Amino acid sequence: MTDPRTRFDLRPEDVPTAWFNLMPDLAQKVQPLPPLNPMTKEPIGPDDLAPLFPMSLIGQEVSTERWIDIPGPVIDVYRLWRPTPLFRATRLEQHLQTPARIYFKYEGVSPAGSHKPNTALPQAYYNKEAGIRRIATETGAGQWGSAMAMACSFFGLECTVYMVRASYDQKPYRRVFMESFGSEVIPSPSERTNAGRGILAEHPDSTGSLGIAISEAVEDAATHEDANYALGSVLGHVLLHQSVIGLEAQEQMEMAGERPDVVIGCVGGGSNFAGISYPFMAGKLRGETPDMRFLATEPAACPTLTKGVFAYDYGDTAQMTPIVPMYTLGHGFVPAPVHAGGLRYHGDAPSLSLLVREGYMEAKAYTQNAIFEAALLFAKTQGIIPGPEPAHAIKGAIEEAVAARESGEEKVILFNLSGHGHFDMQAYDDYLNGRLPEVEFDPAEEEAALAGLPGVPIV
Ligand SMILES: Cc1ncc(COP(=O)(O)O)c(C=O)c1O
Repeated sequence: MTDPRTRFDLRPEDVPTAWFNLMPDLAQKVQPLPPLNPMTKEPIGPDDLAPLFPMSLIGQEVSTERWIDIPGPVIDVYRLWRPTPLFRATRLEQHLQTPARIYFKYEGVSPAGSHKPNTALPQAYYNKEAGIRRIATETGAGQWGSAMAMACSFFGLECTVYMVRASYDQKPYRRVFMESFGSEVIPSPSERTNAGRGILAEHPDSTGSLGIAISEAVEDAATHEDANYALGSVLGHVLLHQSVIGLEAQEQMEMAGERPDVVIGCVGGGSNFAGISYPFMAGKLRGETPDMRFLATEPAACPTLTKGVFAYDYGDTAQMTPIVPMYTLGHGFVPAPVHAGGLRYHGDAPSLSLLVREGYMEAKAYTQNAIFEAALLFAKTQGIIPGPEPAHAIKGAIEEAVAARESGEEKVILFNLSGHGHFDMQAYDDYLNGRLPEVEFDPAEEEAALAGLPGVPIV
C-alpha cells in the first residue's frame, strides 16, 4: 500500500557528505567532447581556467571520481535549511483526478529562495580558501545573484553582480536582497566593461541577456587579479554541487516506498534538473532502471533543447568563455524578456545536452501563459507560489498526470520545485490582468545567431 503521508523529511545529520558525479557513468555510454580554448580552439587545460576559477573547482570540473567529499564548513551552512522536504502533492492529484502519484522536492526553503545556494556556498568557500577577495558574477532572475550574495557574505568575500537589465527593472526587491548582503548590483549591459559598452553602442535599449551579463562578469574577473568569476549553472562543478537535491530525493522516495517513473525539471543551463535527476540517471545508464524517464522543460521563447542545434558554441555573447559542445540557439541569440528570467540562456550544460541527444532525456517547451496557468493551479491546490522557472516543471508534471488519467496508468511522478516566486509578483500581476504577451520564438533570429557559431565540427 502507498504511504499515506504527504511530507518526507530527513534529519539535519542526513545532509549528504559527498557530491555525486555522473561523468564516470556517462563516459561508459558516450565519450563527452572536451571544452576548447576560444582563441586556439584546442582542448583547454587547467591553466586556461586559472584566471577565473580556483584550482579546487577546476579539479572538480574535470574529475572522473564518482564521489567528491563536501567540506565541513559547507555542510555546516547547508544544515541551515537542508535536507529540504519532499512532498506528495495529493491535493493537486485530487484536483486532476489522476491515478498518478505526484512528488516534488522543494528547494524554495533555502534562505535565498531557490536551489542556487547549493553551489554558491562551495564556490565561495573554495575561492576564499584560494585567497580571493572578490567574486564577479551575473544573474538573470536574481536567484543566483541572491544566493552568491549570501554565500559571499558567509565566507567573507566581496561580490559584484551584473544583473540582466530586464530583471533589474522587473524585480527591484531582488536587487535590494543582494545589497542587503553587501553586494554591488549593476544592470547589464553596463558601461563598466568593454563587453557592456560594445552592446550599448549598438543597442542602447538592450534588455540584456545572461550571455551578455556573463561576458561582463568574466571580463571583470579576468582583468582583476584578486577577483574570480562564479557561474550559477552549465559548468560541471555546478551540476556536481546540485547533486545534493537528487541524493536526498532518492532517500526520501525510498521512505515513501516509491520509485519515480518520470523525473521532471526546468532547464535554464541545466543545474537544478541535473541536481535532482543525475543520481537517478546513474541507474538508467547502468541498466538497472532502463524504463525510468527524464523530462526537461523549457520556455517556448528560448527553446534550446527542443529547437536548438547540438554544436560547439561560446558560453557568452562576447566570446570570452571556452567553446563547449551543447544544444544552443547561438551565443548572439537574445531571448524575449519572458518572466522566467533564469531560463533565458542560449545554451545548456554539455552533459545534459549529451543525455538529450543520446535519447536518455526528453525535452518539451511551454509558453508563458501555459506555465502561469499551471503555477496558479499548483498554488491553489498546494499553497506554494512557484517561481516562473519551476512553473515549467509543474506544467510538465500536470501533463504527465493528465496522460496517466487518460490511460488509467498508476504513474509515479517526481519533479523539482527549484524556487518560490515571492519576488515574481509583477509577473503574476501581469498574468492575472491579461498583460502577459505570448512571445513567439522567431526561427529567423535563431538562424542569424547560429551563423555566428565558431564552426568547430562535432566529431
Ligand atoms: C528558481 C530557478 N530555477 C531554475 C533556474 C534555471 O537554472 P538551472 O537550469 O541551472 O537550474 C533558475 C536560474 O536562475 C532559477 O532561479
